[in-house]
Amino acid sequence: MNNAINADNMDFKSWMKQCQALCENDLSHFLPATTTVPGKLHDAMRYAALDGGKRVRPLLVYAAGQLFDAPADLLSRAAAAIEMIHAYSLVHDDMPCMDDDALRRGKPTVHVKYDEATALLVGDALQAQAFLILSEGDVSAAGQAATRLMMLQLLARAAGSVGMCGGQAIDLDSVGVALNREQLEQMHRLKTGALLRAAVLLGAMSGKTLNTDESAALDQYAAAIGLAFQVVDDVLDATADSATLGKTAGKDAADNKPTFVSLMGLDASRQLARQLCHDAHAALQGFGDKAQRLHELADLIVERQA
Ligand code: IPE
Ligand code: IPE
Ligand code: MG
Ligand code: MG
Ligand code: MG
Repeated sequence: MNNAINADNMDFKSWMKQCQALCENDLSHFLPATTTVPGKLHDAMRYAALDGGKRVRPLLVYAAGQLFDAPADLLSRAAAAIEMIHAYSLVHDDMPCMDDDALRRGKPTVHVKYDEATALLVGDALQAQAFLILSEGDVSAAGQAATRLMMLQLLARAAGSVGMCGGQAIDLDSVGVALNREQLEQMHRLKTGALLRAAVLLGAMSGKTLNTDESAALDQYAAAIGLAFQVVDDVLDATADSATLGKTAGKDAADNKPTFVSLMGLDASRQLARQLCHDAHAALQGFGDKAQRLHELADLIVERQA
């Protein structure tokens, strides 16, 4: 176990900074070098994945891994893999055929900085790289190959048509459509919740095979923070400015997207996020002090300003 991840006497901000630095380092290590042919594609992949983002999914991997004393190498792979899938989803989300955004993580989006074909390939290649790095490494210890297979399946399901991609498809089909609460929740659960849930479960599975109670509790926690994350994203889109967000503010209303803000207004959305945060804390009760970082991350997800 990496000492930085495992240090529970460290305050939350310092822990987060250490984990973010670790993630940056791991991503850099697991991504092909720009000197490897084709240099332009590798440069663009590194541009998309490095130097930016809050790294919430990796933080969830580390925090859930800490719960079960997961080995550092596997946690690093899981954290980098899920962040690569996330970075790919952002690159494609920003393309003209989707949300058509020019700003991401405070920088020009990949299709603006490079070109559209490169952005498409960056997403494709980041996704493949994610599965590659999660499948590599030492699987010689008893049960390791089986665990790795389950983790790969979990990530594939969360990223695909019944997960993030499915949610994105619903999002694009819902422009100008007044979704009801249930439909909106389903869209959010898929487009954002699925990868956040995968982050929690991948971290935990890196440490041990979960029993039914542990699985159910983590699932409940993940469902609550997954939905809360996108509710807050919708609120921030309507209330924060582009400089703070590092992406274009006010985009949802401009694009006529159904969001929690358009469905129930700002106050009720904020109240819902707080309720979900409360549900997330409650779900962790059985884990005691070991779940400290997961508790702190639930608060971060709801209280964040960007
Ligand atoms: C933005 O995700 C897209 C959503 C799923 C809402 P993040 O808010 O985690 O973006 P980064 O990684 O910090 O840039
Ligand atoms: C995107 O949701 C979720 C993804 C799967 C990338 P949004 O379109 O709301 O994300 P932002 O606001 O552009 O980051
Ligand atoms: Mg979108
Ligand atoms: Mg978008
Ligand atoms: Mg958004």
